[in-house]
Amino acid sequence: EKGTYPHYMLKEVDEQPAVMRKIIMEYQNEDGDIKLDSSIREAISESDRLYIIACGTSYHAGLVGKQMLEKIAEVPTEVHIASEFSYNMPLLSKNPLFIFISQSGETADSRSVLVHIKKLGHRSLTLTNVGGSTLSREADHTLLLHAGPEIAVASTKAYTAQIAVLSLLAVDTAKAKGITLGFDPIQELSLAAQAMEVLVDQKDIMENIARDYLAVTRNCFFIGRGVDYYVCLEAALKLKEISYIQAEGFAGGELKHGTIALIEEGTPVIAIATQAHVNGSIRSNLKEVASRGAHTCIISMDGLNDASDQIVLPEVHEYLTPLVSVVPMQLLAYYAALHRGCDVDKPRNLAKSVTVE
Ligand code: M6R
Repeated sequence: EKGTYPHYMLKEVDEQPAVMRKIIMEYQNEDGDIKLDSSIREAISESDRLYIIACGTSYHAGLVGKQMLEKIAEVPTEVHIASEFSYNMPLLSKNPLFIFISQSGETADSRSVLVHIKKLGHRSLTLTNVGGSTLSREADHTLLLHAGPEIAVASTKAYTAQIAVLSLLAVDTAKAKGITLGFDPIQELSLAAQAMEVLVDQKDIMENIARDYLAVTRNCFFIGRGVDYYVCLEAALKLKEISYIQAEGFAGGELKHGTIALIEEGTPVIAIATQAHVNGSIRSNLKEVASRGAHTCIISMDGLNDASDQIVLPEVHEYLTPLVSVVPMQLLAYYAALHRGCDVDKPRNLAKSVTVE
């Protein structure tokens, strides 16, 4: 039930801090440590490479997951779009473990990969929001997202739940390997939940930007580097899907290799800059587009205001920044769709769960 909310999407965006807390509760043991099923730990430790398979928003969460699994747990990880995997199959390692990420657990493209890799005798783990779904039943292991039902076609709380669960998977794997973390993962996840809460309470900032710059625009670009780039891909998908604005997310360094030709007077360019080591470069990208007439917006934690618009994110751990930087993106897409008179919860031509290949 959406209660007093005008749309499920807005309700689901608002639920994200609570979902983070639920995930902490579900995956914490009595000692306050993370507890994952020991069979999952074993499956990961027996594998020499992880292959994440997903579509759409879940694929974007997988990209963030790869970074955490490689950087926190030092496990080589590849991420593949399910529909591409079957006919573009990479050379597999000796002992692969396949990780399927799917909110619904019913996505046909992902299922067809699962069927295929099972025939090859490989092991699998599904991260899904729906216990008992096809991908959960047919995989060897399941990790639940605990996000509660997601009704809006545009995925929001499932994306952040996927990233949170992937972070716990990375942390649990690191621990099993004897890697010292240097941070308290549960504490950091609770801080991220608090940060999300701050952002969902600042809807007017996102609504104003959406009304002023996205309500009539033909296109919109999102730029970022490193993990921010992955969130840009998700931001662009969200905006396209519900507001029908032609949107593209790309790596800041790629601007000069083509996309900058599209910048005209007033083109909105939104940058995410949460990673200290690349923030300088992304800021110079913003200057480049601003000098060609773009309307710029920066989403960052350092509070330096060098764009036309600014959204300040509360500080969170560097691995968890996607959990917070995506929230303003979801809200920008929501308000853009609203101001353009679109059907936010049921965008044209789309189904919540894509059960055909
Ligand atoms: O249920 P799944 O996570 O497998 O769905 C995958 C995509 O169809 C889904 O994320 C889609 O891209 C969303 N509508 C995006 O908001």
